[in-house]
Amino acid sequence: MNRRRGRAIAAATVLAASLAGCSPAAQNGDTVPLPAVVPAPAAIEQATGAPFRLDASTRIEGEADAASALSALLEARTGLAPATGGDGAVIALRIEGGGPAESYALTADEASVTVTGADAAGLFYGVQTLGQLLARDGDAWVVPAVSIEDAPRFAYRGVMLDVARHFHPVETVKAYIGHAASLKLNALHLHLSDDQGWRIELHSRPELTALASSTAVGGDPGGFYTKDDYREIVEYAASRHMIVVPEIDMPSHTHAIGLAYPELAEEPVITDPMRETAAATGGALPESGTPYLGIEVGFSSLKIHDEATYDFAADVFGELAGMTPGPYLHLGGDEAHGTAEEDFALFVSRVSTIIADLGKTPVAWHEAGDAGGLAGATVGQYWGYVTPTDGMDDRARGFVSNGGQLILSPADAIYLDMKYPTGPDLGLSWANGPTSVQRAYDWEPSTVIPGIDDADILGVEAPLWSETLRSLDDIETMAFPRIAAAAEAAWSPATGASDLRTWESFRARVGALGPLWTSLGIGFHPSGEIDWATE
Ligand code: ACM
Repeated sequence: MNRRRGRAIAAATVLAASLAGCSPAAQNGDTVPLPAVVPAPAAIEQATGAPFRLDASTRIEGEADAASALSALLEARTGLAPATGGDGAVIALRIEGGGPAESYALTADEASVTVTGADAAGLFYGVQTLGQLLARDGDAWVVPAVSIEDAPRFAYRGVMLDVARHFHPVETVKAYIGHAASLKLNALHLHLSDDQGWRIELHSRPELTALASSTAVGGDPGGFYTKDDYREIVEYAASRHMIVVPEIDMPSHTHAIGLAYPELAEEPVITDPMRETAAATGGALPESGTPYLGIEVGFSSLKIHDEATYDFAADVFGELAGMTPGPYLHLGGDEAHGTAEEDFALFVSRVSTIIADLGKTPVAWHEAGDAGGLAGATVGQYWGYVTPTDGMDDRARGFVSNGGQLILSPADAIYLDMKYPTGPDLGLSWANGPTSVQRAYDWEPSTVIPGIDDADILGVEAPLWSETLRSLDDIETMAFPRIAAAAEAAWSPATGASDLRTWESFRARVGALGPLWTSLGIGFHPSGEIDWATE
């Protein structure tokens, strides 16, 4: 792998198309189809009775946070605000411990709707499902009679946002958090530094933001998060049951660090292909001490045999550990093309140990998996293809034999910045792109790395690199609908373990979400692979 990179379809019609996962009753000729839920729930049964009808007297009772999330969702989708008193029908939101973490049950019938979470996150996810169930019935809004029992397959369900190649302000990050959380994703990995810029204020190393944050790809403006900004992101994410995983990519992808601390940086390693690209495009090659505005990778390195490098890593990760309530700190470790193998191994061993000694779990891209001396239980993030090439699966298995688990981010399926086959002039195509929605969907986590099983998989994460992405619109156009395929791989039963886990079923279910996404302000790509409902 080389990084160098019609008319409104009636809701009923769309729902009927979701019969790939229909209930036994529906398969036997009952014309009432299953409602469209994404990611597919663990178990869903269509009930035979009349639906729950919403109106201005409908009340929400129960847990306050979930009630306010549901009120906002209801109002955005239907325009109806829940009643604050009276004797209207009730939507009850409860937490009852005992089930698996993040699980919930939802029942709806003519008389009431009840959502019961095993914990606050489970209740939040039940509310998201309820938002997807809302359907028009003429001029009215209904929740079909249904019974759902749902729990996640994997504990870690992530998205990554690259705020280094292009900086994205707090409001953009919060919007992406909210929209991703509606698909039951629970981790935001922020790629906070790269060759083109440094994006996080640290009091221990103020030169980073003073000298290395103002630039971005193509000469676009840079930026950085103040400590207050970062706290705001972390708190907003927590309110959506999402952790933040900060990444400081090392030892390569560090040209910007060299602008602030030249004494830590090696000279750029310039390859012939880089020279050829620069000559063909008129782009500049990286130069020490000068901001880098291109999109080549792997040419920069911190000095591996200088103790000052490890003092720097200790300061940076130490301060980030104090700012980050989640358990993970990501050290990068990808594409260190100019670093000798034994030097790379020494580096990732020392930095992973610094992070583990801070009481956090290190995460590294899969290249670090066969470095001896990695801190025990370091999590590996696999970014090779669905069918591994070049021994990338061996490196991934290295984390498992070291006591760690894997996050799966197969680049030819769920790198959300890969171009669509047809669509906006955004994105790149180096990861075997363009990448269709069907390709984003048609893979199974347990078969990517031979020899590992579900217990070795922490979860699934869909990265989004921002070389070509400048705005929230750009981000969400590239992410939606493919992010829903990643969410289904992360949350839903394995392929083959549920009738719902087929492309045809997913295609119909995700198409039914178009109007909800529009009402939530999600600017999705209306891919021609999907029949989009319009109301
Ligand atoms: C990567 O795409 N270099 C992790």
